[in-house]
Amino acid sequence: MPEALPGWPLQLQAQRYNKNHHGDYERWRAALAALPEIQVQRTDYGDTVSVSGSVDAAPLSAALKELHPWRKGPFRIGPVHIDTEWRSDWKWARLQPHLQLRDARVLDIGCGNGYFGWRMLQMGAAEVIGIDPTLLFCMQHQAVQFYMQDHRNWVLPLKVEEVPATCRFDCVFSMGVIYHRRDPFAHVQQLFELTRPGGRVVLESIVSLDGNLQPRGRYARMRNVWLLPSPGQLLSWLQAAGFTACRLLDTSATTVQEQRSTGWMHFESLQQALDPDNPQLTVEGYPAPVRAVVTAQRPVTA
Ligand SMILES: C[S@@+](CC[C@H](N)C(=O)[O-])C[C@H]1O[C@@H](n2cnc3c(N)ncnc32)[C@H](O)[C@@H]1O
Repeated sequence: MPEALPGWPLQLQAQRYNKNHHGDYERWRAALAALPEIQVQRTDYGDTVSVSGSVDAAPLSAALKELHPWRKGPFRIGPVHIDTEWRSDWKWARLQPHLQLRDARVLDIGCGNGYFGWRMLQMGAAEVIGIDPTLLFCMQHQAVQFYMQDHRNWVLPLKVEEVPATCRFDCVFSMGVIYHRRDPFAHVQQLFELTRPGGRVVLESIVSLDGNLQPRGRYARMRNVWLLPSPGQLLSWLQAAGFTACRLLDTSATTVQEQRSTGWMHFESLQQALDPDNPQLTVEGYPAPVRAVVTAQRPVTA
């Protein structure tokens, strides 16, 4: 198990870093153990989060590929460019001009492998605690962290429901999570509890521009999509939970250039989830994915 963050549920973390929790755990652990050392010359938390230094590409690439599929990025480690399924830097470019993170303690719920945490540090955040119950993504973070050695960006194998009740953050991100929640308003209420008075929330979701959409069965081949809210619904939930200054920051259709299969994510991606005769629709006949970002503030006195 990697270094633990004091005050966070240790036992749960230890249970998850275990072969009884995931059958591939030992293989992933072996991949981390096989990562070659690099004399790091420079780290960069820009669009491509990268570490410069000289190392033989073949063993490095082989070890990193054991951690397939790489979904969020891109990263570059020495000579190896990890071309992830998502151009997460494009999402960040849409968000970043609206954010102020200097000296902030940030919680990133459903952080994946922690890509956005590096970007938040680039903006001056003091510390980012990412949580994600998908163990593979936590282990991808460890691979990157092995080279970065910057312990201001954490990725813990925890669910939002497991964050200690007393934790409060200057800024709370929930991106790509709410449509997977059976009770989305309860999720927004959790966001309120986790935000310190005067702090901010950033909430990102696939949205339905024609009013709330409750898919029957799958949406864009994804199971467990319970509700695609309208942007207005996201803002109403924030207000109802007690947030003020609720604002829509961005609405963008997801393109097959932003989310696609690559050498680092061999499975099918957005292209195969769209109707081949009409890419405005998913294969199930719903509107193709559009994502929105909203932000709000917890009142200083609340
Ligand atoms: C669609 S991905 C979004 C990743 C990233 N935030 C982004 O915007 O690109 C949703 C993530 O939420 C994580 N997740 C699922 N259930 C969760 C829970 N109960 N608490 C925190 N994260 C969860 C999944 O493992 C997955 O990595």
